[in-house]
Amino acid sequence: MRKIVLAGNWKMYKTRAESIEFLHGFLPQLTETPEEREIVICAPFTDLSLLSKNLHGTRIMLGAQNVHWAAEGAYTGEISGAMLAELGVRYVVVGHSERRQYFGETDETVNLRLKAAQNFGLIPILCVGETKQQRDAGQTENVIFNQLAIDLVDVDQSRLVIAYEPIWAIGTGDTCESKEANRVIGLIRSKLTNPDVPIQYGGSVKPDNIDEIMAQPEIDGVLVGGASLTPASFGRIVNYQKI
Ligand code: 13P
Repeated sequence: MRKIVLAGNWKMYKTRAESIEFLHGFLPQLTETPEEREIVICAPFTDLSLLSKNLHGTRIMLGAQNVHWAAEGAYTGEISGAMLAELGVRYVVVGHSERRQYFGETDETVNLRLKAAQNFGLIPILCVGETKQQRDAGQTENVIFNQLAIDLVDVDQSRLVIAYEPIWAIGTGDTCESKEANRVIGLIRSKLTNPDVPIQYGGSVKPDNIDEIMAQPEIDGVLVGGASLTPASFGRIVNYQKI
């Protein structure tokens, strides 16, 4: 049985005060959420400590947005798995396209970060996906298979989530058609040794398309950027209706 994981990626949004204000609006909406759905908030590093205290006793799991591969060291600006684990962080996004595009992360460093996350007891959410140019050139499958081939070397697939995030669909309002996302996610699954790895879709997920996305048989959850920032929209997403 594959787990359903509905995660918000807040990116570089929300001060500590704003994160608590969000919780006040969001927590009451969880009374309707079926128990088997795992709900995760991947917050900026500065929010984690306060959120950890405030999520205690709730069903929301805390996530971070990156992790370094070393246990400690002279790596200015980076955060280790031990530092995250100490705060009660359970999930961590690794290899997000914004990290790959703007901060020079490669499949090799993504692989190191995935293994480090697992070494510290964190569940990494590995992001893969193609650019518009790669899609138009018919390279979608190749690009993703190449990413997986390097990213997953020696990674434990029993403690892993993957997010298929087509780069052209992120923050653009241009959602990947749900059947196409389902097809690509099925292909990703065909490359795994563990067929039970939850595979999410990410890219312009909104209250008005969540029901259709979650109706797809290969899609086990979503990784949500913009629509996870307001309690009402993320509430509607975690309370998606089965169709
Ligand atoms: P949007 O939902 O804002 O398109 O962002 C998707 C994303 O990058 C989640 O990691």
